[in-house]
Amino acid sequence: MKKIAILAGDGVGPEVTAEAVKVLQAVDKKHAIGFVFERELIGACAIDATGDPLPAATVERCQNSDAVLLGAVGHPRFDNDPAATVRPEQGLLKIRKALGLYANIRPIKSYKSLHSVSPLKESLVADVDFVVFRELTGGIYFGEKGRRNGGSEAFDLCAYSVEEVERIALLAFAAAQSRHKHLTLVDKANVLETSRLWRDTVSKISNNFPDVQLDCMFVDNAAMKIVQQPAFFDVILTENMFGDILTDEASAITGSIGMLPSASVGSKVALFEPVHGSFPEGAGRGIANPMAAILSAAMMLEHLGYPEAAQEVLAAVELALEKGIATSEINKDNPASTSEVGDFIASNIYVR
Ligand code: IPM
Ligand code: MG
Repeated sequence: MKKIAILAGDGVGPEVTAEAVKVLQAVDKKHAIGFVFERELIGACAIDATGDPLPAATVERCQNSDAVLLGAVGHPRFDNDPAATVRPEQGLLKIRKALGLYANIRPIKSYKSLHSVSPLKESLVADVDFVVFRELTGGIYFGEKGRRNGGSEAFDLCAYSVEEVERIALLAFAAAQSRHKHLTLVDKANVLETSRLWRDTVSKISNNFPDVQLDCMFVDNAAMKIVQQPAFFDVILTENMFGDILTDEASAITGSIGMLPSASVGSKVALFEPVHGSFPEGAGRGIANPMAAILSAAMMLEHLGYPEAAQEVLAAVELALEKGIATSEINKDNPASTSEVGDFIASNIYVR
């Protein structure tokens, strides 16, 4: 039996998560894993129901699960209110911290059937296949923040410890070893002290991985390289906010942010979520691409020790793309709905 906490969240979160669950149920029929799905609140829906973006019951459920599948959090009613004291995003940041999820793994892969919707030339996207290791529980996101001088000044502190850098660097080097043995540390060491700590620490660790080629790149240069020569990258290692920004940029070059899954790992229970946000304008309309959520479920299968099932999900997603069973950002002329995409993928797992 595997207990999966489902935190569907806000906006299109519930719709895309429902399709991921549908696909996992199909996997279960074939592989008899014995999934038990238990739903809890996070984000704006949790604020509405309890006043808290991350109720204690949610944390407890996640801690007692084998894995967590998350949809999305966020609601525009909070974005436009600078005075709001509780925000949906706090739920996401707190669950990452509570579960000790210090490494966010975001694979960036180009699918052949998506080359035509990429904003880049096909020749540039064709060989794109890299993975970003984004630090997730430190840096400016979690440093001291506040107002001073009667509110006329604000500050957000960016701090990192050697230990925080080491533990994610080890994961990134191990990943590079199993891939093309090329790791790029992205930082701003020409300006930031925290970046210099990252460089020192990562350079030392690289001595233990002589087969991995390490290069260091400033974040502004990396942002440019991602659009000029994305196939250059194999594994990118970076701190929290740089990783947030670069993964949105990287996702866009693949053609659709609706395709990108992620895994957040750390001390014990891992969490899987699409890179895209809550897309409130799309909520309830059946137009959101569920593939990122479904591919996140595939990453979860891999993590739980079912690599074959994970491959079957990937193959079914690729088949859907080949046949044009995709939402409107990919198939403009004859789009499928969110649930049609999920149905197709689920049915292709069961029959194989
Ligand atoms: C992400 C999101 C979150 C982040 C937001 C919603 C807090 O952009 O997961 O990339 O910045 O980490
Ligand atoms: Mg982001």
